[in-house]
Amino acid sequence: MDRIVVRGGAALRGSVQASGSKNATLALMAASLLTDEPSVLRNVPRVRDVDTMLDILNALGVHAAWDPWDDHAVRIEPGEITTPEAPYDLVRKMRASFLVLGPLVARCGSARVSEPGGCAIGVRPVEQHMRGLESLGAKVGLDHGYVEARAPRLDGARHRFDFVTVNGTQNVMMAACLARGRSVIENAAREPEVIELAEALQSMGAHIEGAGSERIEIEGVDSLGAMERTAWGDRIEAGTLLAAATVVRGEIRVTGIHTEHMGATLDKLRACGAELEVGDHEVALRAPRRPRALRVSTAPYPGFATDMQAQLMAVLALAEGSSVVTETVFENRFMHVPELRRMGADIELDGRSAHVRGVERLSGAPVMATDLRASASLIVAGLAAEGETEISRVYHIDRGYERIEEKLRRLGADIRREG
Ligand code: EPZ
Repeated sequence: MDRIVVRGGAALRGSVQASGSKNATLALMAASLLTDEPSVLRNVPRVRDVDTMLDILNALGVHAAWDPWDDHAVRIEPGEITTPEAPYDLVRKMRASFLVLGPLVARCGSARVSEPGGCAIGVRPVEQHMRGLESLGAKVGLDHGYVEARAPRLDGARHRFDFVTVNGTQNVMMAACLARGRSVIENAAREPEVIELAEALQSMGAHIEGAGSERIEIEGVDSLGAMERTAWGDRIEAGTLLAAATVVRGEIRVTGIHTEHMGATLDKLRACGAELEVGDHEVALRAPRRPRALRVSTAPYPGFATDMQAQLMAVLALAEGSSVVTETVFENRFMHVPELRRMGADIELDGRSAHVRGVERLSGAPVMATDLRASASLIVAGLAAEGETEISRVYHIDRGYERIEEKLRRLGADIRREG
């Protein structure tokens, strides 16, 4: 089993390009099911979650593969969707597989997708997705652990989500594109990944207004055309790299991103004392002598991203002063805390909040990755710790970061993969 070994102390210097956005890519791949024409996605990160989505698309009967001539592109030939069923053994590996439900029921009139079940960070139910499709006229039910949705043709409708859900918004928005008539989605997620998906759908012929706001209006069409899209840079990977530089007094430049989508992250890094020069598609960061403590609460976009919470906590573990980190989106997203404590961090949990008393130094230790962003947090801490940190179960990190150890090594980190 692979593990990553980090020897702390090196300051990070230099420039690094962020890979393409994992979360946007997964939604775009699901959207390819909406058309019977080919889809080509570029700037796709070589991460395990993309491989899993390729497996799901192929299980449905389309032909999806990495482009033989561009190892960061994916080609999806629609073929015949022989079985609109996404099997449990694939869906359980990646919750985002549930994004095929809306496209399948809109395109094929029926869909069977395994209920994704929970994961390390929470129960993660899908009732919001199901209710949204019911609003569009689908008959939706649970059968032997599978969510089934049927509708000869979906009908446009108004749907208001009970609370913000990113993939829920994406699922319903995709389905509504092929519904009969007009739909209005209220209390929609405003994440950049929703905007990116809407832009791709518009390029395929969909009529969508308001993506990125809490109210999205869609005029359904009978069919959609080909998709050709270059994914934006991954805002979470970029934030992770910037957090790493902040905690080791680094000076780095991250390129290939839309900095307009990183406002909350950049604000918090500034609050930690980092000096930033922000261009449209790159950020240059010069870290402080020692980070400053702060209070932060995760929230749906444009608030501070829950996907950056663990990485920022690793920075605050070494800050001057005491911080409070509150996780409002997921109910169990502090799995990194026991592992950071093993490295000497002084963190007390109190319900949804973590009280972090900054320490002068962390010490390297054998630690275990539990989920994607917790793994990233352990790498950030390991870069600053004294001695070696050995992170096991790095398959978690490979789900969402493309060769993170190579990116960091090129910036001067003493980091290697073993196994
Ligand atoms: C997306 O997950 C991202 N994943 C997550 O990134 C991210 O953390 C999350 O949005 C929040 O920003 C992808 O896009 C593939 P939600 P999603 O529905 O859409 C609850 C990463 O690290 N909920 O916005 O599944 C849910 O349990 C991943 O890259 C319901 O209760 O998240 C959570 O507590 C992790 N019922 C909250 O809402 C529902 O029907 C927000 O979840 C749907 C969601």
